[in-house]
Amino acid sequence: MNHDTPPGTPPDGAPAIELRGAGKTFRTPSGAAHTAVRDLDLTVAQGEFAAVVGPTGCGKSTTLTLVSGLEEPTEGDVLVGGEAVTGIRPEVGFVFQQDAVFPWRTVLSNVMAGPRFRGVAKAEARERARDWLGRVGLAAFEDRYPHQLSGGQRKRVALAQTFVNDPAILLMDEPFSALDVQTRALMSDELLELWSASRADGRKASVVFVTHDLEEAIALADKVVVMTAGPATVKQVFPIDLPRPRKVESVRLEPEFIEIYREIWSSLGEEVRITRERGASHVA
Ligand SMILES: Nc1ncnc2c1ncn2[C@@H]1O[C@H](COP(=O)(O)OP(=O)(O)OP(=O)(O)O)[C@@H](O)[C@H]1O
Ligand SMILES: [Mg+2]
Repeated sequence: MNHDTPPGTPPDGAPAIELRGAGKTFRTPSGAAHTAVRDLDLTVAQGEFAAVVGPTGCGKSTTLTLVSGLEEPTEGDVLVGGEAVTGIRPEVGFVFQQDAVFPWRTVLSNVMAGPRFRGVAKAEARERARDWLGRVGLAAFEDRYPHQLSGGQRKRVALAQTFVNDPAILLMDEPFSALDVQTRALMSDELLELWSASRADGRKASVVFVTHDLEEAIALADKVVVMTAGPATVKQVFPIDLPRPRKVESVRLEPEFIEIYREIWSSLGEEVRITRERGASHVA
């Protein structure tokens, strides 16, 4: 593999991810049309960390599936590395809320699975997997099975499993939401460390991180994208200029952090209220 120009590296200056007027309408089992995403314009620069927040059910996960190639847009364009997305691409890593591990395989075997699937020879895959298990602090756990790990350790496996494939694009859908507050903060710090030195060529992966936790979004991201009530479109984008490297527990106490938190909270709160009122009117 040539590490100088990894796959998925767009020409210099080109955005890593671009959605232009993207929309997605699903056919429901009853045959009705359900629009989950509409007129979505979003750009993520190379090495940029974008966090996406929005009310429940608005279309955040759908947006990620469009970028991942798991679903095709019904309107507009979705580009990765300057090319239209037509299917699942090897340079895109996806971390789901639920663990995506094989329960019958050891930790090492789980982390090796991605490179093996991509055709990497066994010894090389093992070496890379061990390297990433070391980086996520699980070197001593390679022979364990997933059920023998804590929730935080399983998330570390998920991160190793993703980063071992050297993703140019990292899509994360509420990856830490099942964790307690402290473990979550720890994992956020670890994610930032891994991300800042993630790629074989020294570049950072471009990230879209979906979360319900606004503190988490601000602490991690270069920009926070607020989505409207469904069908989702981008309501507002807030640049986060807090200095890096950041530690989640201390950065959230900065006056600048609190100020931007208030601003985004009020933007987001409006959409959450609209969603709730709709829910209430459905019940009525
Ligand atoms: N395959 C599908 N077929 C039909 N409707 C779908 C499909 N996938 C999602 N939807 C609908 O599209 C809307 C957006 O769903 P999506 O999962 O993107 O929301 P979300 O913002 O990720 O929500 P949450 O914050 O609760 O995870 C929802 O109303 C959902 O029911
Ligand atoms: Mg979702």
